[in-house]
Amino acid sequence: MLAWSPIAASLWRPSSGITATSLRAWTSLVDTGGAHGATAEAIAKALPHINCTVLDLPHAIAGAPAISNVQFVAGDLFEYVPPADVVLLKWVLCLWQDEDAVKVLRRCKEAIISRGAKGKVIIVEVVIDSSMSRDGVLLRETQVLFDVQMMHVDGGERDEKQWREIFLEAGFSDYKITPMLGFRSIIEVYP
Ligand SMILES: C[S@@+](CC[C@H](N)C(=O)[O-])C[C@H]1O[C@@H](n2cnc3c(N)ncnc32)[C@H](O)[C@@H]1O
Repeated sequence: MLAWSPIAASLWRPSSGITATSLRAWTSLVDTGGAHGATAEAIAKALPHINCTVLDLPHAIAGAPAISNVQFVAGDLFEYVPPADVVLLKWVLCLWQDEDAVKVLRRCKEAIISRGAKGKVIIVEVVIDSSMSRDGVLLRETQVLFDVQMMHVDGGERDEKQWREIFLEAGFSDYKITPMLGFRSIIEVYP
């Protein structure tokens, strides 16, 4: 039986490729750009059979608390991503323009150790307009406002066509977008 939590419940949706069965099959997950490990901690608590790793820059993980079943790796995701079944990128790819986002995705693809159905990159980000049919104009406005907030960084939010282009450029074969988590979506990207 899986211990459940809001994070695990957010990851799991019948409409996505992330089912309770696939969550049980995962043995390892690396949260790239995972900061002090809040997301990894929630996943490790809900899914204790998964070995969780957080990768972030040395200054970003300095002072991170010790978390049971979560190991921290100081590094640069442009250089190396620790191997795992699942590579999580939550609110990270929006930091960079397409060329750099493709470089990061290539490192993530190299890190996936499972070539079967369970090996994937999971991205949690805005997909502009993806929620239009669900909640209409209000969500669209929220996404645009979020994009204004992101203007201090190099990147920004992407629509589905822009996401598809960088996935293909990085060598991935397919992807699935599931709108959830408020105005953000879960994007599963398959090697
Ligand atoms: C917007 S924060 C997101 C943090 C967390 N994933 C979340 O959802 O709250 C972006 C994270 O990416 C990390 N980051 C930025 N550049 C990086 C790099 N080159 N290598 C590893 N981590 C990086 C930052 O230190 C920061 O923790």
